[in-house]
Amino acid sequence: MSSLLVVNIAQAVSGSATPARGRKMRELVIHAPAAIYAREGVIQAVGPRELVEKEVSDDPVVLDAGGGAVIPGFVDSHTHLVFGGQREDEFDLKIAGASYQEIAAAGGGIISTVEATRRAAPSELVETGLGYLRSALAHGTTTMEIKSGYGLDLENELKILEVIAELGRRQPVELVPTFMGAHAVPPGMSAQEQTQRVIAMLPHVQGKAEYCDVFCEGGYFGLDETRAILAAARRAGLKLRLHADQLSSNGGVQLALNMGARSVDHLEQITPAEIIQLADSSCAATLLPGVSLFLHYGYPPARRLIDEGAIVVLASNFNPGSCMCLNLQLIFALACTQMRMTTAESLIALTANAAWALDRPHIGRLEPGLQADFLLLDSPGYRMIPYFFGGNHVKVVVKKGEVVVG
Ligand code: NIG
Repeated sequence: MSSLLVVNIAQAVSGSATPARGRKMRELVIHAPAAIYAREGVIQAVGPRELVEKEVSDDPVVLDAGGGAVIPGFVDSHTHLVFGGQREDEFDLKIAGASYQEIAAAGGGIISTVEATRRAAPSELVETGLGYLRSALAHGTTTMEIKSGYGLDLENELKILEVIAELGRRQPVELVPTFMGAHAVPPGMSAQEQTQRVIAMLPHVQGKAEYCDVFCEGGYFGLDETRAILAAARRAGLKLRLHADQLSSNGGVQLALNMGARSVDHLEQITPAEIIQLADSSCAATLLPGVSLFLHYGYPPARRLIDEGAIVVLASNFNPGSCMCLNLQLIFALACTQMRMTTAESLIALTANAAWALDRPHIGRLEPGLQADFLLLDSPGYRMIPYFFGGNHVKVVVKKGEVVVG
């Protein structure tokens, strides 16, 4: 593995802690101007060029940043990237005012993607997935969680987990697999029956998934079913995360905390009492503002969560029904303009705190000893990302010390 020296950086910016909460979410470490030296995929030095060059012990590839800023690679901690088909036919219904639940009741929604995914050959899912991952990487995502959940039976859930593993071998974005057999209740089954089926799948997904997730929501999986699945998943050695308080508030946050979940995601309907409980825990509060934009409903209360001290994370929730967006730079802009998160808070929520949500403390910041995953931007300051929004400010992507884009 070669080493890399990046010079002529206007500012190298990252969070100061993993995780960061409260005021720490506004504390950035900024080296300006700066250089970065990475060897064997690990950052060796960041700071003034003269000091960094003293650490260089070999003959590195030299990259001139041309006066651009450098930030850590984005970590997308919530996606459903492996699915068959598209749902653009639902798009006009949504524009006309149909709700997520009405579309599902009319035969659209998650179940229509389940049917398309079951029909798709693994090779097809790999090809489409590679395209999505290329786009995510070009926009700066260097680590991504991907959930199964469009199979719902053993054969198809395993097929999706195997596709995720193959995607991990075929391209540079580091992938974190999550088993989500409890994403929806298949037609003709009850939530209790699907719960038993998901529990029976757990021994088969051991070693293929790192996390287990459940859609805890009326019409999907209630508190009792969610508790039973999470308890069995924990016994099977999986770590936990949860979809909660998306369409209604039903106690999912308290359950996630009781079960020791690493992250509780969505939270559009979180109550003031739950905000306090979450802020008092080490569970990440993962917010998905792309969904609020796309489904045209209220944004989660990011300001209150941060001000109370929660570990706030931002992610894309890339999926065919509620957010066809892989561009975390746009999520950054939505966090600032729609949820009033500061630019520093948003950067940390997409990097250091997102790394926490995936239990990857060795990524998400620019610091000696951490993995060399970083982005070289086309402008001297990172704040251009949310300010000049809608495009792509990433010129070069470095993953594990290697240039993978640019
Ligand atoms: O997070 N809430 C559940 N899952 C996705 C939607 C998936 C779909 O509609 O296909 C979400 O919004």
